[in-house]
Amino acid sequence: MKTTSPRAVAPSRTAPPRHFLDLAEIDAGTLRRMINLAAHYREGAAPEALRHPLAGRTLAMIFEKPSTRTRVSFQVGMQQLGGEVVVLSHQDTQLGRGETIADAARVLSRYVDILMIRTFDPATLHELADHASVPVINGLTDETHPCQVMADIATFEQHLGPIEGKVVTWTGDGNNVAQSWIEAAPKFGFEMRLACPEGLEPNAEIVAAARKAGGSIVLGSDPEALVDGADCVVTDTWLSMHDTDTDRSNLLMPYQVNRRLMSRAKPTALFMHCLPAHRNEEVTDEVMDGPQSVVWDEAENRLHAQKAIMVWCMGKIS
Ligand code: CP
Ligand code: NVA
Repeated sequence: MKTTSPRAVAPSRTAPPRHFLDLAEIDAGTLRRMINLAAHYREGAAPEALRHPLAGRTLAMIFEKPSTRTRVSFQVGMQQLGGEVVVLSHQDTQLGRGETIADAARVLSRYVDILMIRTFDPATLHELADHASVPVINGLTDETHPCQVMADIATFEQHLGPIEGKVVTWTGDGNNVAQSWIEAAPKFGFEMRLACPEGLEPNAEIVAAARKAGGSIVLGSDPEALVDGADCVVTDTWLSMHDTDTDRSNLLMPYQVNRRLMSRAKPTALFMHCLPAHRNEEVTDEVMDGPQSVVWDEAENRLHAQKAIMVWCMGKIS
């Protein structure tokens, strides 16, 4: 793992806003610097100039879906960086009565310095970014969850060192979190394997783009074969917040992470889950509470990773 100390840089006054929308759009060196800074925040080792660099700045968060971790970790992270936070829920604002996201972007940009949105359609995120004059951060869409995967990579490296050349296996629904993992693979140089049932495979365009960018993406439907020798096993809920099906248990039970499946991975392998977990559905209590599980570190690393993301968005690191 590169441990060079992050350096504060003077922000440009004329550059377009630095949005954090998807991992595929951000160059590998920038993502690496954010992960390194996240580790410095976790270890209390950030340089003085990057401890409270957002004093006097305000983050507004728009939530169209529920959240515990994203809401609290962004709020606490911004406060630790010296800034303030405004939380907006869709139904309590004029967005809920039909004000366009473009107009809201223009107005909110006059009040605050960063916008974070958790929404359904990725088009809403992009419309916000297109019309905002301040940085926009993706706090989850139906398609991706990049802040989560930045925290996950920080967690992997906290426990096992550099992720480059390692093997991560996703088992279950090829959902938004899985798709950000796929986008991360070419950026950080690890092999990404996904075991998903028919009909719940990740988006083919995201897979093709990651492969085109040099990512090693292995797709299949046999969790045992794909977990074999993995350094990290990851899963998520059977039903995401945007899903309209009511029951996928028959389809997804064979993809459950249990002791038998974990035993196929390396003995040193980690278990990760973005949370919230549905215990004894996608993961057994035994694995979730077992020695290979790093889910609480993963939740903590949301805080450190998002601090680094906000500091980058505000031009305080290159
Ligand atoms: N993992 C995650 O994004 O959690 P929340 O839905 O609680 O924000
Ligand atoms: N895939 C889940 C992630 C929750 C953080 C969802 O979208 O509901």
